[in-house]
This record gives sequence, structure tokens and C-alpha cells, in this order.
Amino acid sequence: MARIPIRIIPDPVLRQKAQPVAAVDKRIAQFMNDMLETMYVGNGIGLAANQVGSLERLITIDLSEERTGSKAILMANPVITWKADDTFTYKEGCLSIPDQYADVTRPQRIRLSYIDQHNKPQELEADDLLSQCIQHEIDHLDGVLFVDYLSALKRKMIVRKVEKAQRERDDGKIL
Ligand code: NI
Repeated sequence: MARIPIRIIPDPVLRQKAQPVAAVDKRIAQFMNDMLETMYVGNGIGLAANQVGSLERLITIDLSEERTGSKAILMANPVITWKADDTFTYKEGCLSIPDQYADVTRPQRIRLSYIDQHNKPQELEADDLLSQCIQHEIDHLDGVLFVDYLSALKRKMIVRKVEKAQRERDDGKIL
């Protein structure tokens, strides 16, 4: 597996819509493994392809304690087929919006279909944090970020902080 650089806001790829893949072939299965490795290194529980510069509808998720890959969920072309009316609120962060967190409310339970890393169609019902995480990652594939659910003021504050930190990182040298 290989680590891929993570795109940070305001990288335009984070605002683009990813396209479905025709099938999960060897290249895509390998790419999903690379995404998983990248997600583990970044201590994220989810990652979407846009975040590593690809516009294919691929996401990786692992909510397990061990994070060895054995419990990871690798999805291509995930589609939500049902959403509960009940909602769930969780403090979300994002590898593309470093060090910023905010409460986001989403449907508490969802059903979805996707294609797994072996190119097999799968269905899944998810609730609570898993539901929240899948919705956050599918949003990425549509160019949507968790800050879009916040007030304009709060969103601007977060974006400004991240852009300032980026500029300082670009200007600075670690000695
Ligand atoms: Ni994210």
C-alpha cells in the first residue's frame, strides 16, 4: 500500500462531483487500498476519493479499534436508498479541513447499496456514527463538505483559519 497526499481546502477537487466507476478492477481495488492506508496514517475514520485527487466514486471507512484493514469497508458507487426521519448529531472533522470540528445533524439510520473491493454488489444498513460517516463521505463525492451545514459565519471562520494555517505552513520551514 502507498500513502497519497491529502487535498486541503480550498483545493477545487474537493468541490467537484466524482463519477461512478464501471467496475472495481485491479487498479481500483489497489487504489482503494492506498486510500485506506492514507486514511489510517491521517487518523481518519473515513476518506473519499476527492480528498486524494481522484474523481471516482470511491470511499473507505473503518470505525474499528484495531484499524488493521480486517474491518474496513471499501465502497465504490455508494448510493443511499433510504434515510430515517430520526436524526443524529455528531461532532465532525475532516482530513481536508484540518483541526476544525463542528456539530452536524444527519439522518440517524440509512440503507445503501455499493460495490465492494471484489466487485460484488452489497447492501448495508448503518446507524449512528457509521451512518454519519458514510453520509459525510458520500457528500465528498458530490463536492459537499461538512462546513456547508453550518451558518455562513461559522463556515467562513473555519475556512479562514485553515487557509491561514496553510499559508503559514507554506511560508515556514521546520528546522
Ligand atoms: Ni471529510
